[in-house]
Amino acid sequence: ITGGSLLLPITLLSRGQAATAGSPQPTRFSVKLPIPPVLKPVRSDVTTDYYEITMKKAQVNILPGLTTQIWGYNGIAPGPTIKQRQGRQSIIRFINNSVDTPTSVHLHGMASLPQYDGYAEDLTPPGFYKDYVYPNKRAATLWYHDHGIHNTARNVYMGLAGMYLVQDDFELGLPLPKGKYDVPLFIQDKQFTNTGKLVFDTQGKISQYGDVILVNGAPWPRMEVGTCKYRFRVLNGSISRSYNLALSNGDDFIMIGTDAGLMSAPVKVKNFRLGMAERYEFIIDFSKYPVGSQVVLRNLGLPNNKNYDGTNQIMRFDVVRREPDNSSIPSRLRTIQPIPESSAVRTREFRYQRSNGLWVINGKVWDNMRIDANPRLGDVEIWKLSNPSGAAFHPIHMHLIDCLMLDRNGKAPFPYERGLKDVFYVGENETIRVIGKFGANTGKYMSHCHNAVHEDHDMMNQFEVGRGGRSPLAVAAKPLPA
Ligand code: C2O
Ligand code: CU
Repeated sequence: ITGGSLLLPITLLSRGQAATAGSPQPTRFSVKLPIPPVLKPVRSDVTTDYYEITMKKAQVNILPGLTTQIWGYNGIAPGPTIKQRQGRQSIIRFINNSVDTPTSVHLHGMASLPQYDGYAEDLTPPGFYKDYVYPNKRAATLWYHDHGIHNTARNVYMGLAGMYLVQDDFELGLPLPKGKYDVPLFIQDKQFTNTGKLVFDTQGKISQYGDVILVNGAPWPRMEVGTCKYRFRVLNGSISRSYNLALSNGDDFIMIGTDAGLMSAPVKVKNFRLGMAERYEFIIDFSKYPVGSQVVLRNLGLPNNKNYDGTNQIMRFDVVRREPDNSSIPSRLRTIQPIPESSAVRTREFRYQRSNGLWVINGKVWDNMRIDANPRLGDVEIWKLSNPSGAAFHPIHMHLIDCLMLDRNGKAPFPYERGLKDVFYVGENETIRVIGKFGANTGKYMSHCHNAVHEDHDMMNQFEVGRGGRSPLAVAAKPLPA
């Protein structure tokens, strides 16, 4: 279970110039920021929208003049965005057409039933499909991505990831920027050969880094904005790189949301740490800048990332027109029920480390037969997550539940992370405590480091809420009709 891949060898990926990271470098800020298309349902009824997404290989143009083969949902990377209303159900038929590998789709941030959660071993082989049922319980910026056992890093790197936005009436009733002023920013770093092939090289199962920054699939793009407020939903969809984001003019981000939706109140920060799979929402008010200004979204860098020259810049905002602004930022956003420490029935401890060449949790690697925590349905628990190493950081993701951070190294969490989250950045020599209620569903769910290379080798475990729930393997993929 813990060893090598059961899957096809990687033949189409070249090591190329991996060691020196010499991707062709396009001119920065020359491409306009693309916005992934919003997917239309194939049909809808009173309760449900039905979608269809085909995973396939595609030849796309990412670097000027070069063709890159990706594996994309509907042949694009990032995949199409799903936009859904809270309380409506989505049923998505994910068809594995031609990606040469078995897949499992996880809707990251959603309390799905175990059989629809993208369990790593719940595989859909090429030529098969599976209908995933999603309840859309609360408004938030989510994403869907592949979770195939031991190949998550490669599959996400090749393109199998997209955004999934849930909105509700309350949020749409707020005067925050909306429509084209509500913009997803999906950040990834990639490495290419000089002929444009994606290079996937985990440097001995440690990490996959790239020297080209893509936002919504385009290298170092530029976005033309008016003199008004914009709401951004930023997702770090990178395999191993985390970012420390800042604006080139030193101005503040007005942070309004975390992984699981709006915070209780906006908070201004000059920079923030964005680990893999984390989402933050923030406002930039471009009315402060004269037409003609340029503001670069920068990456100040973080320890234990391979920082190449180009990775200190992400994209640029060009203020190109005067524009009226009817939006405003309420001083109270959403009521977040505190979860008092006294309501916790127990504390569990998980240590994230490297040992004997493996990435382990409490000394152990992934084993689908082992359950490391068994809360009862409705229990509130505190999880203490620690990273005793100075040489790596681990963004830890818990499926199924949203938690609040109680403390980081015994001190208050950073102002921007005081909201409900499903990924917690556990930096070098850090210990954090999070609290959450296992109230949504019974069943087995995974928890893991979201450095997808660590996750694949094999920093992943599982918890089971209650006993005897539906197996995560209860709904098998079906063959496509001939
Ligand atoms: Cu975003 Cu278990 O994954
Ligand atoms: Cu890790």
